[in-house]
This record gives sequence, C-alpha cells and structure tokens, in this order.
Amino acid sequence: MKFSPAVLFLFVLSFYSCDRKNTTSQTSTNDPLMNVTDPHSFAKADEAVVKHLDLDITVDFDKKIISGKATLEIERHNNASQIVLDTRKLKIEKVVLDNNEPATFALGEEVKFLGRALTVNCKPETKNISIFYQTSPDADALQWLSKEQTAGKTAPFFFTQSQAILARTWVPIQDSPGIRFTYSATVHVPKGLMAAMSAGNPKEKNAEGVYHFDMPQPIPAYLLALAVGDFVFKAEGKRTGVYAEPVTIDKAVYEFADLEKMVDAAEKLYGPYEWGQYDLIVLPPSFPFGGMENPRLTFCTPTILAGDRSLVSLVAHELAHSWSGNLVTNATWDDFWMNEGFTVYFENRIMEAVYGKPFADMQGLLGFEDLKETIADLGDTSADTHLKLNLKGRDPDDGMNDVAYQKGYLLLLLIEKTVGREKFDAFLKNYFQKHKFQTITTEQFLAEYKNDLVKDDSAAAKKIDIERWVYSAGIPDNCPKIVSEKFNAVDAVVEQWKKGTPAKNLDTKTYTSNEWQRFIRALPGTLTVVQMKDLDDAFHFTSSGNSEILGVWFEHVIRNKYETGYPALENFLINVGRRKFCKPLYVLLAKTPDGLSFAKKIYEKARPNYHSVTRGTVDEILEWKKQSAPVSL
Ligand code: BES
Ligand code: ZN
Repeated sequence: MKFSPAVLFLFVLSFYSCDRKNTTSQTSTNDPLMNVTDPHSFAKADEAVVKHLDLDITVDFDKKIISGKATLEIERHNNASQIVLDTRKLKIEKVVLDNNEPATFALGEEVKFLGRALTVNCKPETKNISIFYQTSPDADALQWLSKEQTAGKTAPFFFTQSQAILARTWVPIQDSPGIRFTYSATVHVPKGLMAAMSAGNPKEKNAEGVYHFDMPQPIPAYLLALAVGDFVFKAEGKRTGVYAEPVTIDKAVYEFADLEKMVDAAEKLYGPYEWGQYDLIVLPPSFPFGGMENPRLTFCTPTILAGDRSLVSLVAHELAHSWSGNLVTNATWDDFWMNEGFTVYFENRIMEAVYGKPFADMQGLLGFEDLKETIADLGDTSADTHLKLNLKGRDPDDGMNDVAYQKGYLLLLLIEKTVGREKFDAFLKNYFQKHKFQTITTEQFLAEYKNDLVKDDSAAAKKIDIERWVYSAGIPDNCPKIVSEKFNAVDAVVEQWKKGTPAKNLDTKTYTSNEWQRFIRALPGTLTVVQMKDLDDAFHFTSSGNSEILGVWFEHVIRNKYETGYPALENFLINVGRRKFCKPLYVLLAKTPDGLSFAKKIYEKARPNYHSVTRGTVDEILEWKKQSAPVSL
C-alpha cells in the first residue's frame, strides 16, 4: 500500500505516540491505522471497554436532575485492573461490582472541556460495575423547559443533546465515538408524561410513568438520547412515524408525509436500513440544532414545520446519518467530516431521488454559498478549513463548522463526477456494509479510496488530488461547479429589481422556499429602507412562516436598520434557540453599538430559553459572562 507523506506522518505519529493508551483499537480490524488516540476522552480502550449500559434513572423536573444507577457490562483486556470512564459535573455516590460488592474508585482532576476521569478498580472476575450517580442542574447536555416554553403550554419538557462530548454530563460512560455499546434503560418520569430514547420506543403513555427501552445495536455515547414531555405518536408508514406535542402532531404528520419514501430511497442507494424503526420527534424551539441523528429517533427542531414540506431536506440529512455516522462512525472528532460530509452527499442523493435533480442542485448551491461565507470568516488559510481537523485541547464544538459538511460534500461530489456515479455508488454501498457498526478514520478511508476506487486510474487520482482536499485549507480550484437553472432565473429577477422594476411586478409566482432563500441572499448587502419596504410589502418576508426565509431576511433587517422588522426579529430570537439562526444574527447585531445594545436587550429575555450549546456561542459573541449574567459553575 502506498501512502502520501501526510498519511505516513500521521501513521508514524499514532504508532509511536507516547500516550497510546486511550485508543479506539477495539473497533476494527488489524489495521494499525486504527490505533487512534481520541483526545476528547479519558477512556483507555486498550485496558477495558463498556459493552453494554443498563440505566435505571429518575427524571426529576423539580430539582432539574437525573439520578439513578448506570450498570456497565465491561470487557477487559490483558487482565486490566481498572476501567476509566468520562464524567462531567456528575455526583458519584457509590460504585459497586457484581453482587453488590463495593468498589474503590477515583475521580480525577477537572480538565477543561473534558470533565473528570472516573477510574473504577475491578477484580479479575469483574463483569459489571454499577455507578450510583446524580447529574448537576447545569449539566450541559440537558435542557429543562417549563410548560410555557413548549408549544402546548400544558406540561414541562426535557431533552438531551449528547453530541459531541456531552453524554458524560448525564451518564458516566466512555464518551468516545470509537467505543460502541448496546443499552437498555428504565426511566421514571412524572405521571402523565411520555419518555422516548434513541432506542425501541413506546407508542403510548403508561399510567405509572415508567418506561423501558432497549437498543440492541451498538452505538457510541454521543448517540445516547432521551426526551420527556407531553407528546404522542402517529405512524407515517410501516416503519416510520412522528412524536410531537398534541397541538403539533397533525402539522408534523403532514410535514413529514414523505418519510417512508425517503427511507426507501436511502435503502435503494446504499443498502438496508439497519435500525428497525425510523421516527422523528419534534422538540420545542429551543432545541439547539436543526436535527440530531439519534438512532431510531431523530430529534428535530419545530422550525422545519414550514407548512409546505419545503424544509424536509433536514430529515433526509438525519436519516442519511443512519448509515454515515451511526453505522460507520468517525473515529474521533478530528474525523468529523467522515460523518457530516458523507451525510450531506447522501442527503443530496436522497433529495434527488425523491424530489428530482433541480431541487437537489438548489440545495447543493445554497450549501456552497454557506461554505464560502464560513471560509471567508475563518480565513482561507485557517487549519479549521481542512477536512481533517486538529481539535486536541479544544472544545470539539468550536471546530465543527460548514467545512466538514460542505467541503466534505464537494469532495465526494468531485469523486463521483471523476470516477462515475455507478462506480462511486458501488464503492459506498460496500463501504457501509464492510464497516457497519465500526469506526472509520480519515486515513483509513483514504487508503480504501486508493485501493478500491482509483488504483488503476492514476489520471483520476491526480485530477481529484484528495490529499489537498483533506489536509489543506480553503476550497481547492478543482472544486466541482454546481449549476442550477432555477437559481440562474432567480438571479436574473433580482437584477431586474436592482434596475428598478418594483418588487410587486417581478415574476416570482412559482417560487419555492429554496428560490426565496436564493432571492434574499442575492440582494445587495446595503439597501435603503424604501427598498426594504418595497420587498416586504410585495413578499411579506417579515411575517414569513418559513424559518430559513426569516433567517436570511433578518440579516438584511439588521444590516439596513429596517425597524419595521425589529419586533419580528426580537420575537424570533426569543423563541428560537437553534444556533444556526441565532449565531449569525447576534454576530451582525454586535457589529454596531446600537445593534449590540438591542442584542443584549433581546438576549436577556432569550437566554433562559436557550440550551447550553447556543448559550455558550451567544455568550461569547456578546461577551455576556463579563457582565451581570449569572455564571454557571
Ligand atoms: N449531527 C449534527 C448535529 C451536531 C453536529 C450536533 C455537531 C453536535 C455537534 C446533525 O446531523 C446536523 O448536522 N444538523 C444540522 C442539519 C443539517 C441539515 C445540516 C443542523 O442542526 O443544522
Ligand atoms: Zn449531520
């Protein structure tokens, strides 16, 4: 096998690393490239790993804590006498071995971003350890919402967000994407509420508020998930359905009507859906992401309920993760593009199969524009614009941006266009089967790409120049060009408007959500209030029910000080905690003194509605902690 200098360097580095203990070597073949250090976990996978987790927990809305017992079935290597777990802000009450025998354990020093290592001493015969613990009220994965913060306003709501390294704030576990385990759980919730997990789920409430879960397929800790609230289930197809609050369920069922078709399309592309059921749960609007690919149960934001099914590409994305990410998982967060770049490519293929190529091309181009903006922000020589990241010593969340998604997507598109779709599809289908329920590194993928895709085609390899994409900054100049006739037509309409045609006379009758987004993004950065009003009077952007349209429109509202839009902007930021929308709006507001004080006024009301993930980002933009805000410990 031939390796490039960069790959060889990494290989040597990982092989001779003085800290080779914390590895994910359990996950794969004999390939030494798989002995990879995960810089974001204390786990020492070559000593002992978790094979099964059994949770017995109570969700206490009054105290805002989870408490109970995590029993870990472990596998030890070379008679290891200890197992090391990840914890953060957890109170460990006691640890017992099999047969309730007390165990000795130690909690290490707090390490920034990572929390504390929990080392449990085992006996030669130890098979299980049980940890009695409690979470902290400011556990970063968890969000506790009052009934007023829900759609129905009748019951409180609770949800977790474990990716990237937040699972350890609610379960003592080996929180590394390279370590997989099966799990079961018993969850006690207040009577009248329902619970759902990234596992086999109940379809109805039970009177006692006690729910049992089983996840027989092994998953990494970042896919552990739990939601509790007043929600109901409705089926979409034979193996698909939706959970949502009673006031939202019909809207959600309508919006996701193509769910079963999407699963069928995905299977046709890259092989069987391996997880049994595929459901969605619609969370309250504070959910910090658009979607989270928790196995069997994607968590999603209500901001995709546009009423016209126009934002369901997000569902295709999370569904695609059932292969890229959940089945074949990035070995460390430095390989994040192996999850997200592959998923954006797969998402686009699902969209093309279900809604046609013009639609998929529009999506692709919108993503490309996002990428250009992200790279402009980061600087085109920034190491954070490489596909292979180096997040050691940092919060992984800081380095995860559009680059993994869109540059990753464009590389796969380039490979597809160079080697041919048929060949690439066969490669991918095989890739998912071959590595299912395992971990993949960037380097392992590169080796396979060279062996299976371009071995006999040096011209293709040269044309693609994959190392440059993976280990260099910016967008390489062999980037494939995505062309959308529909967007070309939109651009022409925007030109007419710029030349003086009043907005109401423009031909926009057939526009869909994507075309509106393009239209708004193609507008000049600086507009007069008269121009803003002309557009708003004709198209009612300020009162749009489509969050993507609102997101881009509000950028113009802020830049051009279009005060008519301020109440809607304020309302949006108070209600919606989805970081993708909040971040650019606060960044823009913070650019002017007036904007900054408006932003702070809004944030004071909005902050209690945001999950820690979004709070962390906005705190930084507005330098919030330096002022009066209560600092969480
Ligand atoms: N897995 C991600 C969300 C994520 C990434 C959480 C990194 C924590 C750390 C999810 O699949 C995702 O990418 N969501 C996107 C939607 C998608 C359509 C690009 C989002 O939330 O915007
Ligand atoms: Zn994703």
